[in-house]
Amino acid sequence: AESLFPRECLAGKRVVITAGPTREALDPVRYITNHSSGKMGFALARAAVEAGASTTIIAGPVALETPEHVQRVDVTSARDMATASNELAAEADIFIACAAVADYRPAEAQTSKIKKTGESITLALTRNPDIVASVAQRENAPFTVGFAAETDNVVAYARGKLERKGLALIVANDVSNSQIGFNSNENAATLVWADGQRELAQANKNTIARQIIDQIAGMLPTNSP
Ligand code: CTP
Ligand code: CA
Repeated sequence: AESLFPRECLAGKRVVITAGPTREALDPVRYITNHSSGKMGFALARAAVEAGASTTIIAGPVALETPEHVQRVDVTSARDMATASNELAAEADIFIACAAVADYRPAEAQTSKIKKTGESITLALTRNPDIVASVAQRENAPFTVGFAAETDNVVAYARGKLERKGLALIVANDVSNSQIGFNSNENAATLVWADGQRELAQANKNTIARQIIDQIAGMLPTNSP
């Protein structure tokens, strides 16, 4: 087994993590989604448990087993994920938004199967709520961490999201390299915060997850007397 953290750097902390894709219904048999596997979020949950945190994962539809000692809430749509997140964030010290939330959903989910008609069809889509931004902007917000998958200007776009959403930390991924990221077991990232950044070299997602947890633990306000 790989070594645990030298000390339980998140002992007594409550961590909530969103993971995986969301699924946005078009009709009873069809939906819009993306390729997120949920692996990074589940690796973060394992690392948080190792660090001694009480850990809850809010999972979109993924084919992954629940890690030991992790509480799991399964959700389907972005709006379901938003509801669960707002509820659980109220009790959290740390909120990590690792999910690939669908930015848009069908404006209307049909109650009966859509029938094939003409040669083309147009789908009307409507914006989903921004889950991590609403968590970060609540009163007594937890230490809130986002992810940003970008193909270009990676750090600049990530820093923009950090500021716009009011996050404490963002994990920027360069997804122009299709060998790593979305469905793979490896990842590389740049951690970006208000007055600094740190490169994490390509590694197994478990290693990346431990480094992210370590960074978060180091940035938490200390409970000085
Ligand atoms: N996120 C979220 N709710 C959404 C969209 C995104 O909580 N409706 C979170 C993601 O979980 C991630 C961060 O916001 O932690 C950044 O997601 P990303 O898709 O990179 O940013 P967007 O603001 O959606 O911008 P765009 O997709 O246009 O780059
Ligand atoms: Ca998005």
